[in-house]
Amino acid sequence: MKVDVLLGLQWGDEGKGKIVDVLTPNYKVVARFQGGPNAGHTLEFENQKYVLRSIPSGIFQGGKINLIGNGVVIDPALFKAEVESLEASGHNLTDRLYISKKAHLILPTHRLLDEAYESFKGDDKIGTTGKGIGPVYTDKISRNGLRVGDVFHNFKQKYDAAVKKHKMLLSQYDLEYDLPSLEEEWFAGLEKLKTFNIIDSEQFVNDQLKQERSVLAEGAQGSLLDVDFGTYPFVTSSNTVCAGACTGLGISPHNIGEVFGIFKAYCTRVGSGPFPTEDFSEVGDEMRDRGNEYGSVTGRPRRCGWVDLVALKYTIMINGVTQLIMMKSDVLDTFDTIKVCVAYDINGEKTEHFPFEANEDIQPDYIELPGWKTDMTAVQSEDEFPEEFNAFLSFLEDELEVPIKIVSVGPDRAQTIIR
Ligand code: GDP
Ligand code: IMO
Ligand code: MG
Repeated sequence: MKVDVLLGLQWGDEGKGKIVDVLTPNYKVVARFQGGPNAGHTLEFENQKYVLRSIPSGIFQGGKINLIGNGVVIDPALFKAEVESLEASGHNLTDRLYISKKAHLILPTHRLLDEAYESFKGDDKIGTTGKGIGPVYTDKISRNGLRVGDVFHNFKQKYDAAVKKHKMLLSQYDLEYDLPSLEEEWFAGLEKLKTFNIIDSEQFVNDQLKQERSVLAEGAQGSLLDVDFGTYPFVTSSNTVCAGACTGLGISPHNIGEVFGIFKAYCTRVGSGPFPTEDFSEVGDEMRDRGNEYGSVTGRPRRCGWVDLVALKYTIMINGVTQLIMMKSDVLDTFDTIKVCVAYDINGEKTEHFPFEANEDIQPDYIELPGWKTDMTAVQSEDEFPEEFNAFLSFLEDELEVPIKIVSVGPDRAQTIIR
C-alpha cells in the first residue's frame, strides 16, 4: 500500500480541507505532514462550517485515524482551542487523533519573535500569519527546538532554557509583551495535548502500509509558498511540496502513490510577495467578492487574479502530480471572458518557465476563452457542464498534461463532481 498525497499548487487556500474530507472515505488514515496553525482548512457539510488549523481534515468522517505528523509544528494553546471547539459541536477526537512525538512545539516566545521580526522588516514584511512559524522551524533546523515527546522528561528545564534564549533575542526589538499570561494558556494547552495518543508516528505510518491500510497525506499552504521552490523570501518555512510528505511522515519516496494537485480556477495569494497575474481592477474585486476571498485564519482580504499556467506547470513538475483537482469553478460563472496566463514576457523575452524572481518585470501573456455564464453551483454531474466550461477544462488538461479528475462547484462537500 502507498501513501497518496494531496497538496496545493498555488499560494495556499486552494480548498485542500474540503477535498481531503471528500476523499477520506477511501482511506484508513489521514495525516498532516507539515505546517501548523498558519493553515486554515475549511469544510462545509450539513449546513455547518468548520475551519481546521492543526487537526487533519479527515476528522469528520467516522472511524478514521487522523495523524499530526513529525513535520508539523503545534501550538498547544491553539490546539486546545481547536479541540474544544470541535468537542462543543459534538466531535470527540480522543481516540481518533494521534500526534507524533517528533512534531515540534511552537512556544509563546516563537509567536512573539514572529511579531518582532515582521515589524522590524517594515515595508518588506512577509505578511506572516503571526503564528510563530518562521521562529519554530528556525529552532528546529538550528537544533534548539522542543518536541512533543520532550514534554514527558524534564520539560520545564528545557522550556526555561529555550525561553531564556528567546528573551535575549526579543530584547533586541522594541516589543512589549505579557509572557506570563501567554504561558498560562500555553501550559493549559500542553495538558490537553498530553491526553492524546502521542506516538512514534513514522513507525505507525509504515506499519499501516505493511498492513495494507491506506493513508492520505494532507498538505498545508501551497507549492508557491514552499521554502525552497516558492517565491522566496515570501514563503512559509516548511517544504510544502510532495517531498515534504516523505520527511514529514517518515516514508520512503517509493511509498508515494497518487499525487493530487489542487488549484483554483483562478488564483489567490494572501500576504506579501510576487503574484504575476494579480488583477487590481474590478475583475479581481469580483473574484474576491464571489469567492469570499478573505483569509480563514486572519480574515485578511486575499489578492486575486487569473489562473497562471506557467506557475502551475512548475508546481506540477516539482510535485509529480498525477491527478488535478480544480476548485471554485462557480466563482467565474459571471465572467464573459475567462483569461488564462500561458507565458510570461520578461523584459521583452517570452518564457514558459517560472523564473528565479517572479517580480514586477513580468508581463503575463493571456489567452481568452468564452465564459460559461451558468450557475455552476447547481450542477450535479459532468453531463451538465456547459460547452464553454468543457472547453476550459480541455484547454487546461492539454496544457498541463495531467487529467482534472475532480471539479468543485461550491463550498459544500456535496458540490463536488468526480470525473
Ligand atoms: P484550504 O486552506 O486549501 O483548505 O482552503 P481554505 O479553506 O483556506 O479556502 C478555501 C475556501 O473556499 C473556503 O472558504 C471553502 O469553503 C471555499 N470553497 C472550497 N471549494 C469551493 C468551491 O468550489 N466554490 C466556492 N465558491 N467555494 C469553495
Ligand atoms: P492553508 O493551509 C495561504 C502565507 C502567509 C505569508 C506566508 C508566510 O490554509 O492553505 P507563515 O505564517 O507561514 O510564516 O506566513 O505564507 N501562508 C498562507 N497563505 N494559506 C495558508 O495555509 C498559509 N499559510 C501561510 O500569508 O504570506
Ligand atoms: Mg486556508
